Amino acid sequence: MSTDPETILVTGGSGYIGSHMCVELLSAGRQVVVLDNLSNSSMASVEAVQRITQKALTFVQGDIRDSDCLAAIFAEHNIDAVMHFAGLKAVGESTEVPVKYYDNNMNGTLRLVEAMHQAGCKTLVFSSSATVYGLPEQMPITESAPTGAINPYGRTKLMVEEVLQDLFAADPTWRISLLRYFNPVGAHASGEIGEDPNDIPNNLMPFISQVAVGRREKLNVFGDDYPTPDGTGIRDYIHVVDLVRGHMKALEFLRDKPKLTVHNLGTGQGYSVLDAVRAFEQASGVSIPFEITDRRPGDAAVSYADPSKARDELGWEAEYDLHRMCEDAWRWQSKYPQGFQE
Ligand code: NAD
Ligand code: UFG
Repeated sequence: MSTDPETILVTGGSGYIGSHMCVELLSAGRQVVVLDNLSNSSMASVEAVQRITQKALTFVQGDIRDSDCLAAIFAEHNIDAVMHFAGLKAVGESTEVPVKYYDNNMNGTLRLVEAMHQAGCKTLVFSSSATVYGLPEQMPITESAPTGAINPYGRTKLMVEEVLQDLFAADPTWRISLLRYFNPVGAHASGEIGEDPNDIPNNLMPFISQVAVGRREKLNVFGDDYPTPDGTGIRDYIHVVDLVRGHMKALEFLRDKPKLTVHNLGTGQGYSVLDAVRAFEQASGVSIPFEITDRRPGDAAVSYADPSKARDELGWEAEYDLHRMCEDAWRWQSKYPQGFQE
């Protein structure tokens, strides 16, 4: 096991968070190999990453469930660590086609760790989610809060965490970081990469951005009768660049000795849906029409992180505020109204 990871395999590296991770890694002088099946992304983001950094990465179009493909990557490249972003992530869709989610997210991760084991690469950073806390009762949410996912997507995240914990218990020479993201939003400051949902956005920020740019008529605000100051749901939005910097710190933290760690990546600050609308209006100068509709089933009223464990152990804190998240999201969306299809 190398103590200085130089070549990083980024699964899902052409996706929203993975592409920002690649920019950070390349800018820090790392070699990057991306494995992505392009099921929810396109080569345009890979090209943009190389444009931004003026550095080349290796792109492999393939599936994390394909053991031969994984073996070939590990044989060809001296991979020091894996950052594992590949997965399906739409909560609603996961309730309609659960088996597809279990196959992709569970089997994909099992094939990946098998290939890592065979190649002797035992350093892994995994994209988990605050969704593993289910409907949390106490705020802010610490890493020791009870877990209990409430939909198939969330269960895949929780099950993968448990698999990785079992793996580490059986073989404590692994170095595994489980990162529980709160609500990643925003875009790279260049405006060249950002979030580009395929269909109607499920998430708040990309929906607001598409209203602002004229692709959608109005935002539906899912409920204004929650026990919050303005009645709308409260979330911990975190700038995607802060988020990927948290991964750099997590990777560093794994260096000194084998361990399995769990960290929340959030700002610790909660904002309501209406706060987010107002912040986006200020950042973009565009007004966002909205209508209050019914609650979305399964939504928590409030969710925000206690990020102190990441601060104390990783030396990481989010830097960007909600205004900056909106400014950067708007720069991307206004430059490329149709996203990577432009
Ligand atoms: P994304 O869909 O933009 O990126 C995921 C990438 O993985 C896509 O490029 C897709 O083509 C690829 N992929 C999917 N299945 C694959 C497979 N079987 N083989 C190879 N490639 C595959 O999503 P994102 O927002 O960048 O999320 C990245 C990770 O972070 C996911 O695991 C997601 O569950 C997790 N996460 C995201 C959020 C969020 O709000 N965006 C929150 C918490 C956790
Ligand atoms: N919302 C609206 N209208 C919309 C979309 C969202 O009012 O069109 C509201 C929601 O009700 C919620 C808030 O905006 O109060 C944020 O919703 P998102 O869908 O953006 O985010 P969630 O917190 O519901 O879920 C996200 C990811 C999940 C992940 C979870 C925790 O989608 O995958 O964060 O990390 F599990």
